[in-house]
Amino acid sequence: PTERKDIPIETDWRKRPWTITTDFPECVERNANATVREDDVWIIGQQKTGTTWMQEIVWLITHNFDFETFANVGTFQRTPNFEFTGVYKTAFADKIKFYDVYDACDSLESPRVLKSHLTGNMLPTELWTKKPKIIYMTRNVKDAVLSRYHMYKGFHYWKGDLKSFLDAFLSDNLPYLPYWPHIFEFWQMRNEPNVFFTSYETIKKDLKGNLRKICKFLEKPYTEELLDQAVENLSFEKMKNSKASEKTKELVERLDKAVGEENNEFNFYRKGEVGSFKEEFPEGYTEKLDAWSEKYLKEAGLTADKILNFQKDF
Ligand code: A3P
Repeated sequence: PTERKDIPIETDWRKRPWTITTDFPECVERNANATVREDDVWIIGQQKTGTTWMQEIVWLITHNFDFETFANVGTFQRTPNFEFTGVYKTAFADKIKFYDVYDACDSLESPRVLKSHLTGNMLPTELWTKKPKIIYMTRNVKDAVLSRYHMYKGFHYWKGDLKSFLDAFLSDNLPYLPYWPHIFEFWQMRNEPNVFFTSYETIKKDLKGNLRKICKFLEKPYTEELLDQAVENLSFEKMKNSKASEKTKELVERLDKAVGEENNEFNFYRKGEVGSFKEEFPEGYTEKLDAWSEKYLKEAGLTADKILNFQKDF
């Protein structure tokens, strides 16, 4: 059902068996047929690449730097995860009930800031005809997969240890995989005028400079003072301790109660660093992931550094 002919970029990767298809079969139609608005901003990227951080960056810029609402209204209320209805059905099964996020997206006021981890062929058809602005996030795969492990543990979706999780990741046996083809698909679109391709590492290196660039990309006004205030509000510590993040924690608490395990340490704002995989990766797995990445990258004629350091000029 996911064979789609309307994507402007031709890519062999589409012939791969996207595990996401089997994970969210009932949502495929709703994903494809969802309404897109020209003034939307879509944040796209693999899980744990800093997409929430980018959602908050973009939400602030597109909402006149409204720091008050930013700090007090839950992140996913202001900027929903587009396919979350499918995600919770898969991850949480019937353990908890949640509102219909497709409907929530439809009733959200413009300009909408939406997040998705889906691949091009699973995203709404109108994304490729209405061409709203898209920000694509990527991140060092080892940090991203470690972060994903902690989230899947926190959501009671993964019962095994890190080693078994990494093995599942390497064999594409988790939602949203395979990893690299997702990135290559959007890499091919990086020079499209409506696409801003960036990385967690780039944003982390120079938050203020990137805020300025993103304002320009989104054609939104800013002042240096507002950018300074935004940098402060977007810091890891500030976001971790905000009321907005409390709302996300509530979801985890509801799930804990549902499965009867109430001492869950999981926090969406976990470490917020570059290279934290080094502290936890089991022996041999750094090399394993590097060799596995190298195979994909070589085939695509790319290097991880080239992808992570790509910067659009503004
Ligand atoms: P870690 O688990 O490595 O800490 P996503 O939002 O795509 O799920 O990505 C989550 C990752 O982004 C987590 O990584 C999280 O801590 C990190 N993150 C979120 N907000 C951040 C911020 N303000 N500064 C730095 N990192 C942040």
